[in-house]
Amino acid sequence: MAVLKSSPAFLVLAFAFAFFLCFIMSTGSYVYFQFVQQWPPTNCRVRIKRPCSNPRPLQIFTIHGLWPSNYSNPTMPSNCIGSQFNETKLSPKLRNKLKRSWPNVESGNDTELWEHEWNKHGTCAEQTLNQMQYFQRSHGMWYPHSITEILKNASIVPSPNQTWTYSDIVSPIKKAIRRTPLLRCKPVPALPKSQRGPKSQRAQPNSRPQSQLLHEVVYCYDYDALKLIDCNRTAGCWNNVDIKFPP
Ligand SMILES: *[C@@H]1O[C@H](CO)[C@@H](O)[C@H](O)[C@H]1NC(C)=O
Ligand SMILES: *[C@@H]1O[C@H](CO)[C@@H](O)[C@H](O)[C@H]1NC(C)=O
Ligand SMILES: *[C@@H]1O[C@H](CO)[C@@H](O)[C@H](O)[C@H]1NC(C)=O
Ligand SMILES: *[C@@H]1O[C@H](CO)[C@@H](O)[C@H](O)[C@H]1NC(C)=O
Ligand SMILES: *[C@@H]1O[C@H](CO)[C@@H](O)[C@H](O)[C@H]1NC(C)=O
Ligand SMILES: *[C@@H]1O[C@H](CO)[C@@H](O)[C@H](O)[C@H]1NC(C)=O
Repeated sequence: MAVLKSSPAFLVLAFAFAFFLCFIMSTGSYVYFQFVQQWPPTNCRVRIKRPCSNPRPLQIFTIHGLWPSNYSNPTMPSNCIGSQFNETKLSPKLRNKLKRSWPNVESGNDTELWEHEWNKHGTCAEQTLNQMQYFQRSHGMWYPHSITEILKNASIVPSPNQTWTYSDIVSPIKKAIRRTPLLRCKPVPALPKSQRGPKSQRAQPNSRPQSQLLHEVVYCYDYDALKLIDCNRTAGCWNNVDIKFPP
């Protein structure tokens, strides 16, 4: 080994291996896309420590991100080697569209969210979609299939009290897009200390919550981000727990 370490052959091998690793990381490895849309009132309900910049969040589903994904890898590829976000690569016209479809409902700084999503997720599919295409394609996915309208047509509208089952919400979406989407939920946040009841009546952390808030709807797309496909991951909501769709 000592001989090998200093030999040119070893150096060549080491370089080749490092190059190979870089290649794998830089090309990313994904199989399909998850297009994730979020319900802003839920984003803001669960942010207790740093409230949303706008106290009256939008009442439409907006884009969270377009995530290259891999069935056999539950943690998606992320932060791949590639070009970093550069806002000037987005035309002013596209930026105006994204301000509607892809706002940062938490901090109010839209560019910050676009930068985060591109650097974390977009870079992992740069071989398929460059920066301009990544944002254009995402806006195009948001625009024709308005979840807000699909749900409204099925009489599923935001309400502080009413609850739904998972399939109540999935069925009309599935019917409209003719593919199976996924829902993601958040537990109803604990009340501030001053408003809590006795400890014995409170849910334990990590236990099944009594009810949950609809947070995100995921559509799945093929490798080229052109064709909708069925999502077949397990849902991100608790089974058999009522779902609220808060205003
Ligand atoms: C998906 O992820 C697994 C586990 O990380 C990896 O072995 C596999 O190569 C990936 N699939 C593709 C198509 O990149
Ligand atoms: C950002 O993109 C513009 C237009 O393509 C280019 O002129 C500029 O050099 C880029 N900036 C950086 C920091 O890469
Ligand atoms: C918004 O975020 C961008 C990207 O992170 C940053 O460059 C910019 O300074 C931020 N703008 C404000 C007003 O904070
Ligand atoms: C909702 O219903 C209206 C009126 O029936 C219809 O024009 C529209 O296409 C429907 N939208 C969706 C997304 O199903
Ligand atoms: C929701 O429930 C509370 C308590 O049960 C009730 O006081 C309130 O009127 C209800 N609100 C709506 C919009 O139904
Ligand atoms: C999901 O579908 C893909 C493509 O049809 C398949 O390769 C994969 O095994 C499926 N995963 C699960 C968990 O069913």
